[in-house]
Amino acid sequence: MKVVLLGASQGMGRALARLLAERGEQLFLLEHRPDPLQRSADDLQVRGAKGPVGTAPCDLLRPETFATALDRAEQQLGGFDTVIVTAGLFGTQQQLEDDAEFAARVLTADFTNVVLFCEEARKRLLARGGGTLCVFSSVAGERGRKPVILYGSAKAGLSCYLEGLDHKFRAEGLKTVCVKPGFVKTGMTAGLDPPPFAGEPRDVARRVLWAVDRGKPEIYAPAMWRWVMCAIRNMPRYVMRRNNF
Ligand SMILES: NC(=O)c1ccc[n+]([C@@H]2O[C@H](COP(=O)([O-])OP(=O)(O)OC[C@H]3O[C@@H](n4cnc5c(N)ncnc54)[C@H](OP(=O)(O)O)[C@@H]3O)[C@@H](O)[C@H]2O)c1
Repeated sequence: MKVVLLGASQGMGRALARLLAERGEQLFLLEHRPDPLQRSADDLQVRGAKGPVGTAPCDLLRPETFATALDRAEQQLGGFDTVIVTAGLFGTQQQLEDDAEFAARVLTADFTNVVLFCEEARKRLLARGGGTLCVFSSVAGERGRKPVILYGSAKAGLSCYLEGLDHKFRAEGLKTVCVKPGFVKTGMTAGLDPPPFAGEPRDVARRVLWAVDRGKPEIYAPAMWRWVMCAIRNMPRYVMRRNNF
């Protein structure tokens, strides 16, 4: 596989990139900060990634960086067949309610700009006959819930976009994999109380790689969250209103 990863310096993205490197895949990293970018590339090289691990700057808050970054990946890899997007921003509901500028950044990065990045990626994948576009959304996008109203609504839009993309382009060879993590212990959730079934990045990464290899359109990770969300999706509104969901 020739894989482009956006957001692989931390958390689940890093765990996934390491698994891919250990399998000997060819990797190209996109990040918004230069320091972790080179460190991540060196780390993946040592772990067995094939050929030099390329890098290019790409900032989810600067859509003008997307096309250039993907063009550089295409040039170095000689075309790519897989794009994985783990990059994302998070704020608690309170932080986002208190700071409208921060809320705008989270909403823009997690919906509008990630969709614009995917549009650039899918055009390049389709031009080569298809491939896999794997993007991290969230279980937070499944219902409107008090603790994640703003973040969850961005992820709901993203999940909807990814489902539509999969319906439209699968017949042309583009498989879209929408990852819906539950609570996973990463820098993003540091300081939050982990609920039952909280996952570890490496376990989630293994499950995601399994889904990417099979082109599954939707995957919950850890797996238990499929059943948790099945219950929450079917929960009546009056029950949700009374509880702190
Ligand atoms: N952890 C959870 O419980 C959980 C649950 C549901 C969904 N998710 C989703 O899963 C994905 C991965 O989450 P994670 O927990 O692994 O997060 P994480 O550890 O915080 O990693 C997020 C990655 O995104 C990068 N990033 C941040 N701002 C960026 C920007 N403007 N441009 C490009 N990259 C940027 C970060 O780079 P820097 O560190 O250099 O800023 C980092 O590499 C996210 O989309 C998140 O919303 C997470």
